[in-house]
Order: sequence, then C-alpha cells, then structure tokens
Amino acid sequence: MAKICVIGTGYVGLVTGTCFSDIGHQVTCLDIDKHRIDQLKNGVMPIYEPGLEQIVEQNVNAGRLKFTTSYPEGLQDAEFAFIAVGTPSSDDGEADMQYITMVVESIAQHLSHPIIIVNKSTVPVGTGDWVAELIVEKNGQNTPSFSVVSNPEFLREGSAINDFMQPDRVVLGSTDLEAAQQVAELYQALRAPIMITDLRTAEMIKYASNAFLAARISFINEIANICESLGADVREVARGMGMDKRIGPSFLDAGLGWGGSCFPKDVKALAYMAATRGAHPQLLQAVMDINQNQRKRAVIKLQKAMGSLEGKTVGVLGLSFKPNTDDIRDAPALDIIRMLLESGALVQAFDPQAMQASKEAIPALVLRESPYEVAKDANALLLATEWNEFKSLDFDIIKENMRGNVILDGRNIWYGQNLHEKGFTYIGMGVPSAQE
Ligand SMILES: NC(=O)c1ccc[n+]([C@@H]2O[C@H](COP(=O)([O-])OP(=O)(O)OC[C@H]3O[C@@H](n4cnc5c(N)ncnc54)[C@H](O)[C@@H]3O)[C@@H](O)[C@H]2O)c1
Repeated sequence: MAKICVIGTGYVGLVTGTCFSDIGHQVTCLDIDKHRIDQLKNGVMPIYEPGLEQIVEQNVNAGRLKFTTSYPEGLQDAEFAFIAVGTPSSDDGEADMQYITMVVESIAQHLSHPIIIVNKSTVPVGTGDWVAELIVEKNGQNTPSFSVVSNPEFLREGSAINDFMQPDRVVLGSTDLEAAQQVAELYQALRAPIMITDLRTAEMIKYASNAFLAARISFINEIANICESLGADVREVARGMGMDKRIGPSFLDAGLGWGGSCFPKDVKALAYMAATRGAHPQLLQAVMDINQNQRKRAVIKLQKAMGSLEGKTVGVLGLSFKPNTDDIRDAPALDIIRMLLESGALVQAFDPQAMQASKEAIPALVLRESPYEVAKDANALLLATEWNEFKSLDFDIIKENMRGNVILDGRNIWYGQNLHEKGFTYIGMGVPSAQE
C-alpha cells in the first residue's frame, strides 16, 4: 500500500485516484475547484463516467479515498504526487501550461519530505526536466529529495475505469530508474506490461500515439470521401482492410471525425513542437485539415439534400464528442450545429448526457427530451454521436414526426436500404446512396 496524492479531479485525475484506491492504495484527490471537491465529498460525480460513482463510494467507505482542496493536507505523508490537470491548447496550438505551472509551484511550496512527482497530464516533450528545474528554483538548497517520472495516460472517456484497470501498457519515463520502478510497483496488481524509458521519450509516446490514432480516422475519412465519388462503400472497405493483421480493425470508422479533449489539442501541440524546431509536420497538418473538412462536408450534404438551410429545422442526435461521456470539448456536433445556425437553420437536439453543457455553449440550441422529440417537425435528422440508444430507433415514429425525410447518418450506424424503403432520403459518410 502506497500513499498517493492525485492533483486534479477531472476525467483523468478522478479515475486514476479512484482506481489506485480500489487496488489498495491510500489516495487523496486534490483539486482547487471547491465546488467539485464539495460535490465529491457528498458522493456527487462532477463528470459522467460509467461505473465511477459506485467505485468512488466503495473506496470512500473503505477509508482508502478522500478529497481535499488543501495542498498541505494532500501532500502530507504522500510518497507520490500525480499531476492530472488540464493542458488545453493556446491560440497558436502550443500546450497551455498554466495549470501545470500552478501545480508545480504549489508542490514546491509545500514540499517537506522526499517525494516522487508523477506526471499524467499530456505535456510537451521536455516538461519533466522543466518541472525538476522549477522545483529546485522555488526551493533552493533546502529542496527535499524528489524525482520526476512521466506516466502518460491512455484511458478513453466512456471506458476509463476498464482502460485504467486493464491497460495495454503502462509507460514510465524518468532519469531516475529507481523512481520509475517504484511507480511501476503501484501498478503491480494490474499485471499490465510496463515499459520504462527516458522522460522525453515517454512524453513523446503519448503525442505520437494520439496523433497516430487521429491519423487513422482522418485516413479512413479521406478514403470515405473517395469512396463516395467512386461508388464504393467505405464500411466494407474498412472491414476488408481491418482483416489484415498489419492494419487491424480499430479506428477505421468513417464519419464526422474526431474531437474531444485530447486528439485536437495533442495533434496541434505536436505540430507546434515540430514547427518550432524547424520541422514541417505535413502529415499532422493534413490529419487536422481532413478532420475539420468532415464537419463542413456534413453541412454541405444537408444543404445539397434540402436546397437551402434557411428556415429549415435540423434535428441532431448526440452532442458529446463520442458516446458514453458528457464531454463536449471540440465535439463535431457542436461545430456542425454552429454552422447550421449560421446558415439560418433551426437546430433541436437530444443527448443522453451532454445537454446542459451544450446549451451553455450554444444558447440558440433547442433541447428536446428524446430522439423522437428531436424528429418532431424536423426537415432533416443528423446523427452526430453514436450512442447505443440511437442504434435501434423506431423509424416509423420518426417518419411520422418529421416534416421532411432527410437523414444524415454521420456515423454510419443505420442501414440505408431499410430507411430508404421507409421513404427516407438516407445519406451516409462514404457509403453509396440507398436508392441506387
Ligand atoms: N480526458 C481524457 O480522456 C484524457 C486521456 C488521457 C490523457 N489526458 C490528459 O490528462 C490531463 C487532464 O485531462 P482531464 O480531461 O482529466 O482534465 P479536466 O479538465 O477534466 O480536469 C482537470 C482538473 O484539474 C483541476 N485543476 C486545475 N488547476 C489545478 C491546480 N492548480 N491544482 C489542483 N487542481 C487543479 C481542475 O479544477 C479540474 O478539475 C490533460 O493533460 C489531458 O490531455 C486526458
């Protein structure tokens, strides 16, 4: 059993802290957001993540998990301080390090005993070295002994607990091998493959992994667009490609593209790092451009199908950037909705978890209580996020409710031919139109 302080209780910090407590460690989760910590103390989850609430409750009751806003309390006796605060994009694409800086300064200020600082946030390559320098700069000669370990996080929102508990690998990077090994021991109960490397390489592994996954999606979207012009079906193309062991089936779903809190900012930050060192990250640039274009293509498809969007009602199913999360950061749905509104359309939407945040982001958005309400009087229906509950809708009711008959299946989850037979104009992403 180790004593761990996890700093930041967002999607990564809260899941990390909770799961570490669940495998027997003593964890204090620390956040400067008082409301968030008060909520957590009352058993209210600040984020939607399947299964999280129950594990938090179990471990709080078992006395292994607690919450605080106080650095002295959080760091007291802690052998490990995990950093899990946000690293959003600045305007030029560079990672915004203000939260990390604040955390490191707070750790430096309250450091009174030896500690291992473990960075889980996705940070520019070289940050680990900079963290070590900053701690020494703030503490001077009296700095207690400490080490910095990079431990990039690969969990996915929506399946975060499972991803933490059964990771494909745990990556650790440090100039201090012993410290990296001590962090590895924290994960021992998971029996996961552990890779220990140097600090900068560990930091780079995270960026390279996210950029590669984003590239696969942009690749299949480019193929989808070519399929459309040649009359091939991208779903079958992806299936055929995915059977090749060298390729594999994951991340080959054509659609509206990627979004969320990680891919967009991480691909941008990697391109920025490359550019500032004189490299030309053409592939990364293309990956981002293709992704942005997919969103525009969706609007153009609707425009083409309806003539004009002016005064038309578009129903949107799904707002979060992907299913099983309430996260709307850089969600394709929201971008598309903004474009539809700018073109004069009225937009009404439903999402199982992300309604309130979306309304705050786009006040002109009209919220509805169910997919069938979204269909009411709509000229077109757009599937933006493939929540399971949208997969088997009653399209007879949808047809009855809609004023028009256009369906844009932005994630290719429905059978176009069935919908065509019910009288819809079905449009997919990279699939032949059903009537042909
Ligand atoms: N969300 C994901 O799916 C995911 C996956 C892998 C890696 N990451 C990376 O992990 C990091 C965290 O992402 P997230 O989505 O969990 O962020 P988040 O925005 O959900 O949460 C960040 C939390 O940090 C807190 N915070 C900010 N400054 C603080 C400070 N000085 N002291 C204590 N707490 C502070 C905020 O109040 C907030 O609760 C990012 O670098 C991200 O790129 C995220």
